[in-house]
Amino acid sequence: MAALVTDCIAAQLSLVTLLLCSSLASTAQHTLGAGTSLSVEDRPQPFLVSPDGTFSCGFLQVGDNAFSFSVWFTASQNSTAVWTANRDAPVNGRGSRVSFTRDGELALADANGTMVWTSRTGGVSAGRRGLTVSLNNTGNLVIADPSTGSTVWQSFDWPTDTLLPSQPFTKDTKLVAGYYSLNFDNDNVLRLLYYGPDVASLYWPLPDLNIYAAGRTNYNSSRIAFLNNTGVFLSSDQLQAQATDLGLGIKRRLTIEQDGNLRMYSLNTSGAWTQTWSALKQPCHAHGICGRNGICEYQPSLRCSCLPGHNMTDRADWRKGCKPLFSIGNCSQGTAPPSPEQFMFVKVPQTDFYGFDLAFNKPVTFEQCRDTCLNMCQCSAFSYRIDGNGFCYPKGLLFNGYTSPNFPGSIYLKVPRDFNVSAPLIAAASAAGLACSPNDTVKTVNPDVYGKAPRSSGKWAYLFAFAGVLGVLDLLFIATGWWFLSSKQSIPTALEAGYRKVMTSQFRRFTYRELKEATGNFKEELGRGGSGVVYRGVLEGGRVVAVKRLAVDVTVQGDEEFWAEMTVLGRINHINLVRIWGFCSERKHKMLVYEYVENQSLDRHLFDADGDGKAATLAWSERYKIALGTARGLAYLHHECLEWVIHCDVKPENILLTREFDAKISDFGLAKLSKRDGGAGVELTHMRGTSGYMAPEWALNLPINAKVDVYSFGIVLLEIVVGSRLQDQTTETGERLQLPQIAQALRHVLDSGDVMSLVDARLQGQFNPRQAMEMVRISLSCMEERTCRPTMDDIAKALTAFDDEDEHPAYHS
Ligand SMILES: *[C@@H]1O[C@H](CO)[C@@H](O)[C@H](O)[C@H]1NC(C)=O
Ligand SMILES: *[C@@H]1O[C@H](CO)[C@@H](O)[C@H](O)[C@H]1NC(C)=O
Ligand SMILES: *[C@@H]1O[C@H](CO)[C@@H](O)[C@H](O)[C@H]1NC(C)=O
Ligand SMILES: *[C@@H]1O[C@H](CO)[C@@H](O)[C@H](O)[C@H]1NC(C)=O
Ligand SMILES: *[C@@H]1O[C@H](CO)[C@@H](O)[C@H](O)[C@H]1NC(C)=O
Ligand SMILES: *[C@@H]1O[C@H](CO)[C@@H](O)[C@H](O)[C@H]1NC(C)=O
Ligand SMILES: *[C@@H]1O[C@H](CO)[C@@H](O)[C@H](O)[C@H]1NC(C)=O
Ligand SMILES: *[C@@H]1O[C@H](CO)[C@@H](O)[C@H](O)[C@H]1NC(C)=O
Ligand SMILES: *[C@@H]1O[C@H](CO)[C@@H](O)[C@H](O)[C@H]1NC(C)=O
Ligand SMILES: *[C@@H]1O[C@H](CO)[C@@H](O)[C@H](O)[C@H]1NC(C)=O
Repeated sequence: MAALVTDCIAAQLSLVTLLLCSSLASTAQHTLGAGTSLSVEDRPQPFLVSPDGTFSCGFLQVGDNAFSFSVWFTASQNSTAVWTANRDAPVNGRGSRVSFTRDGELALADANGTMVWTSRTGGVSAGRRGLTVSLNNTGNLVIADPSTGSTVWQSFDWPTDTLLPSQPFTKDTKLVAGYYSLNFDNDNVLRLLYYGPDVASLYWPLPDLNIYAAGRTNYNSSRIAFLNNTGVFLSSDQLQAQATDLGLGIKRRLTIEQDGNLRMYSLNTSGAWTQTWSALKQPCHAHGICGRNGICEYQPSLRCSCLPGHNMTDRADWRKGCKPLFSIGNCSQGTAPPSPEQFMFVKVPQTDFYGFDLAFNKPVTFEQCRDTCLNMCQCSAFSYRIDGNGFCYPKGLLFNGYTSPNFPGSIYLKVPRDFNVSAPLIAAASAAGLACSPNDTVKTVNPDVYGKAPRSSGKWAYLFAFAGVLGVLDLLFIATGWWFLSSKQSIPTALEAGYRKVMTSQFRRFTYRELKEATGNFKEELGRGGSGVVYRGVLEGGRVVAVKRLAVDVTVQGDEEFWAEMTVLGRINHINLVRIWGFCSERKHKMLVYEYVENQSLDRHLFDADGDGKAATLAWSERYKIALGTARGLAYLHHECLEWVIHCDVKPENILLTREFDAKISDFGLAKLSKRDGGAGVELTHMRGTSGYMAPEWALNLPINAKVDVYSFGIVLLEIVVGSRLQDQTTETGERLQLPQIAQALRHVLDSGDVMSLVDARLQGQFNPRQAMEMVRISLSCMEERTCRPTMDDIAKALTAFDDEDEHPAYHS
């Protein structure tokens, strides 16, 4: 108790408060039984104090007459919250109350009696067990059952923006501040994500680096991280962050903050926090800070400004970015694009915008780069790097802009020729760094650093001249993509009881207990992916099934809506689609029961995972059969289903094989369900899909339609021919092969007829060249701009036309 009084003095409270504090201090406890409560007026008395006094728990003021129920370091000057029950719903400063009820529930009530937050541990039996609530020396607020010693609820399981030493950070944990969050991504890497109202992107580890270069690995799937008392933050992806003041006995926290940075802090003896580590060394590397068309600059402190010719959208909020004061015309289909002569470019030196590249060309001259942008209607600017290489990036949208004196390139903004840049520039951007005169157009810039012959190696060596797109784009969207379409758009009218009855004959709802039994308590794991973990199960009657436990994200979906979505999927029945037998939806347990397909997924057969060249090779006839089956399955989804279904995540992992190597597409239900007449495409707010297989339009915020599947199918088709992952192909300089390079290579093959050079060498020439050529032709057409891509129906027909060929007529002799 003495410690608490000292803390009160340290906090320099007024004498009156001090007296109040000490008089109540005798009642500050670290464990409370049922039936206790604290009203907000009793502040600053804490509700609980940890046994060693390090942490307090109670009401904290978060605004005028607004309070939160939080845990904080007792000795910190400003009582920095490390956990908060009601972060988004502060309570009134009069009449609000937190109680530990007789039923064993911790509950926070607002002045008018509204229950703002509860621990949901209540229930009569909980009351009978005599639960207690206590604050641990670690800062963990714990509801426990003293008779068994078991923990019923703990604040460590529900972190807000802060991780404390000894608090586990798991695959289900997320630290959140505003639009920013820290969590383990599907690929096992701990990442920072910006999830703004317009776009989402990952920004740490820095997306320009591959994860190994960033010192991480995606190999370890345990997805766990820890901040230990010494000041080391260790994660299973091999991240090892060290505080600058390593050592025991220091009070620490790891917090994600409103500026998107993740920082470690130590509490010093005067109660102030000292930063001892941060994830981003350069604060402008956080995405979304200055919004669309905004530029971030850090010199010596962070500052936002607008591009020339732009004006802040909302004076109070940089995150809303800047609006152009001009128009570069309308690029939607049906209107003639404005002619290139109408434009000029304004140079913004040492500046880059991350992502949304429409293409990537290297090495090209400045004029080629400029003309590329001029001739692309959607291009709003281009980035050109004058570092001896001639990197050219035409940009669609301008997000995540930043200026740095070290950046070896500039942005050239497309503006109408008759637009007076200087006038609005003064009104819009106070930043001196953006000085630019109307004369500073592309005509005056003429870097002479291009023309070097491209070099490349391996199979692709002779195949390309220049070009490339997706690499950077992809990274933006590896993020946790998982959604169902909003129910209003896709819920069928068929929720009537009669309909349900019909459905249950083939397709049924399982109870959690049934599935738990069927899978032997989820014993045998068949695989895992972004959407959940799949287990082998045996139903009553002996039918073998695959049970997919959906990842937590989907469980926000209400029971009724989930049921409705599932009944649509249950009706889908095609030889090349994995059958869904049923589902389970009990509170947080959401599961799908699939037909069991024996022979694993295509990637296991196609790619040589060990790199030893000895993987059992799929014969050509099998490959063609798989390609055809996959095309037919997708064509069915797109054109023949009762509901028009877009898969959105076509990749070898989602193509399962039967014993006879027939393809069965899985996971289709997890994507968007959309009405057939909604053919114009539906705006999606979340992303799904997998790096390397995603169509470029995902990155451009265009409405998504079935052509995204066509694109992904084209990539898979080519991989079937080549026998390796396109994403893993690199040029001699170690760069990832980009889309235009691939397209160029395919065009070369079609022109020269030399398909042999492309086909998987492991087949040792045992393939049908006419079929291979057709596959290459189709694959190339799938990579076109989306309006030019064929439909899945066209593709299925084209592949069928070559189906009855010999397996592999002699290619050479
Ligand atoms: C109680 O007050 C909160 C705001 O303090 C308000 O949002 C809520 O609607 C009120 N509830 C009732 C039942 O009046
Ligand atoms: C609370 O702290 C004690 C020792 O300080 C520890 O044994 C116990 O595991 C902790 N409980 C929880 C739930 O953190
Ligand atoms: C924290 O982790 C580091 C690195 O693994 C280790 O050297 C140190 O002993 C750990 N400290 C504690 C208190 O466990
Ligand atoms: C994965 O990470 C965990 C936690 O860091 C570690 O205990 C485990 O040994 C690692 N597994 C492998 C295979 O490296
Ligand atoms: C604690 O940190 C604050 C701010 O960093 C600094 O002003 C103060 O001198 C430090 N106090 C001690 C005792 O180190
Ligand atoms: C505490 O808050 C005051 C007022 O907001 C601020 O001036 C001061 O720097 C803060 N102190 C610490 C240690 O954060
Ligand atoms: C662009 O054209 C489309 C269709 O022609 C129209 O619906 C849209 O409003 C136009 N947008 C602008 C910004 O003019
Ligand atoms: C451009 O704007 C400047 C500053 O407002 C003005 O002085 C100049 O006359 C304008 N030029 C044209 C061609 O409108
Ligand atoms: C820029 O926006 C402000 C208010 O947000 C407005 O007053 C001003 O006129 C705008 N400037 C231009 C050139 O449109
Ligand atoms: C712009 O260019 C014209 C002609 O090239 C020149 O006469 C004029 O002085 C230049 N203006 C500025 C501000 O450099």
